Order: sequence, then C-alpha cells, then structure tokens
Amino acid sequence: MTFGVPRPDKIDYYAQVAEAGRDYKRQVLAALDLRPGLTVLDVGCGPGTDLPAMAEAVGPSGAVLGVDTEPAMVEEAGRRVSGTPQISVRLGDAHALPLAESSVDRARADRMVQHVADPAAVFGELHRVLRPGGLACVAEPDWDSLVVDPGELPTNRAFNRFVCSTMVRNATIGRSLPRLALGAGFEVLDVSVAAPVFRDFEAADKILGLSRNTERAVRAGQLDRAVGDQWLAVLAAGPFLASSMVFIGVFAKPAA
Ligand SMILES: C[S@@+](CC[C@H](N)C(=O)[O-])C[C@H]1O[C@@H](n2cnc3c(N)ncnc32)[C@H](O)[C@@H]1O
Repeated sequence: MTFGVPRPDKIDYYAQVAEAGRDYKRQVLAALDLRPGLTVLDVGCGPGTDLPAMAEAVGPSGAVLGVDTEPAMVEEAGRRVSGTPQISVRLGDAHALPLAESSVDRARADRMVQHVADPAAVFGELHRVLRPGGLACVAEPDWDSLVVDPGELPTNRAFNRFVCSTMVRNATIGRSLPRLALGAGFEVLDVSVAAPVFRDFEAADKILGLSRNTERAVRAGQLDRAVGDQWLAVLAAGPFLASSMVFIGVFAKPAA
C-alpha cells in the first residue's frame, strides 16, 4: 500500500541501500566462503548489485546464478553482467526455484525474504537446491528495531508500528531466520547482527523512508499530522542519528 505517496525508483533505491549496507554485504560475501569452481545462487538478486563480486570469488570455472521475480530486475541485472560469461540471470520465484535438487554449492538471499508470501516455503526451497554440505547466507532486516534521535520515543514507536503492520510484509523476519532455517532442515552455523548507523538525515530518509512512511501513516489515520510533522522537523534539525538491525544467518545443509 502506498496511500498515494510515490515510491522511489527501485533500482536507485537498491543502489543507495547497497552503499549504506556495504559492510554487512561484505560480511555476507565472506560468510559464503566462495572458492574457485563453486556454483552460487543469489535469490532475489534485484538489479544484480552483488553478482560481480560473487563471480570474482568463484572465478571463470565457477557459476553465479541470479534469480528474481521482477522482469525489470532480471533485465537490469542481465544488462549489467552481460560481459561476464559465468553469470546468468533468470526470472524465477523463491517459492519454486527454477533449479534441480542439490544443484548449487552456495545460496544467498539479501533482504528478499521480508517480501515473500511464505518464508518457510522459501527456506525449504533453499534447502532443496543446495547440495548436502552446501551453505546458505540470508540477511534480513528487523524493521521494528529502527531507532532515531532526536525525537519523541512514542512517535518513533508509532512509525515502527505502522511500517511493520502495513508497509513490509514480513517486517520482523530478521529475528526469525534461525527458527526458519532449523524448520527447513538446516544446521545454524552463525547468527549475527549488523546495524548501520546513519548520521545524515537526508541519506537516512531516502533509505529508511522516514518522510514517506510518516506521510503514509498520517494518511492511514495511524499518526496525527502535527505529531508526524513535528517529529520529522526535529529529526531534520538534528544532530541526527538512526540505526536499524539486519540479521545475518549462516546455515549449512547437513552432508548426506
Ligand atoms: C530489497 S530487494 C534486494 C535486492 C538485492 N538482493 C540487493 O541486495 O540489492 C528484494 C528483491 O527480492 C525480489 N523478490 C521479492 N520476492 C521474490 C520472490 N518470491 N522470488 C524471487 N525474488 C523476489 C524483489 O523483486 C527484489 O528485487
């Protein structure tokens, strides 16, 4: 639901998030333990931001496959990686991956599970397509963890409540990653949290949607306009800080 408030262009938005999240993205890449010759899957690859780094790690003898449900993302990712033969990009749904059982060595999903209809089914699919002994690394936010300063705590909480109840389908999925992984038959190797810190209101606003989701909350009748306006004005005046958690889970499919 957008409540008549325009969404930012998705490809630009993903580029901004990738810049702000470069440290946790490096952590995900390291956790995948990629080596030459491996086959790695990026589910919900978006515009292909992370495919080149994975291709570099698996080398020309390896393979990288990006899958996304959105044709515009598949098209953009395909355009970006057209000069790298070991990368391919395919339209596909995480609930029914277009891949054979035990066909990949590594799988990755970065902020994709927050959007899906059935997270448990998606974990089942990750488990199915990984070979025994293979690794999955999943990074997902927990939108209820957003903290900002300055500003009234009840408004921060009302903002989080609106985002979690209305704007993001599985807004607190980050904290559920180990439970979902265990349910699908994975062994949990590691769970950690990255919490990027923003000190610039405008940069944070673009990524965290402070202004646009405040406007939506007001239009949805979940926040008083004067309270919302005052909250944003105080935040914009600063000095500003915001942070929000991204959970990173590293899971192994037990060897047969
Ligand atoms: C927040 S973006 C992240 C993109 C990319 N992983 C990154 O880190 O830049 C989430 C992506 O997941 C894709 N997605 C959502 N539901 C999906 C599904 N059921 N199967 C595959 N991809 C999905 C979206 O189209 C979008 O490109």
